[in-house]
Amino acid sequence: ASRLITDRLAATRLLPVVVINRAGDARPLADALAEGGLRTAEVTMRTPAAMDAIRALADVPDLLVGAGTVLTTAHVDQAVDAGASFIVSPGFSAQVVTRCATLGVPVFPGVASPSEIMLAFEHGLRTLKFFPAEQLGGVPMIKALAAPFADARFIPTGGMTAASLPDYLALPAVLAVGGSWMVAPKLLDAGDWKEVTRLTAEAVALAKESPN
Ligand code: 3PG
Repeated sequence: ASRLITDRLAATRLLPVVVINRAGDARPLADALAEGGLRTAEVTMRTPAAMDAIRALADVPDLLVGAGTVLTTAHVDQAVDAGASFIVSPGFSAQVVTRCATLGVPVFPGVASPSEIMLAFEHGLRTLKFFPAEQLGGVPMIKALAAPFADARFIPTGGMTAASLPDYLALPAVLAVGGSWMVAPKLLDAGDWKEVTRLTAEAVALAKESPN
């Protein structure tokens, strides 16, 4: 199961991070993303609508929907029950990653330091969210971490834009870049699906041009 999402991230190199306020926006959002070339979404468990949105997206053919901002084992259970096919955390929780392993659900915990990467390695995890990427030192920081941790594959997230995308995607240690810029809450709240599609297509085009 974990191959599905990592293979897709390796292929498209993008992970849209969604903060959704109305579950009814889930389907038009999925259509807007697909129109721009992406069939992957991380729905953050930060809003009351998140669970219903995951449920709706789990029914969309060929879409891989995961849950983000997963902080507890209760969140893991709720998200998997709603149909999430992967789990993302902002930080490293042994409880969260152990629960995901028990359920057989791929998990991408957040790391911000060498010690956290070593902890993740001890749990057998190599694909890690690097969060918050820009604030932690961005591209030079990932380059420095990739030297001792040659096996780590990072999903840098936090502060990303189309402008920062090429430099991150040029790093072999970067599996995919995560971010909310192409699915910003203000676009969803306004129902501006054309702009979601435009920003998604722009990111997809940049990812295709990237050397890795
Ligand atoms: C996350 O949960 O991954 C972040 O909130 C996404 O960061 P961004 O909004 O800066 O892209």
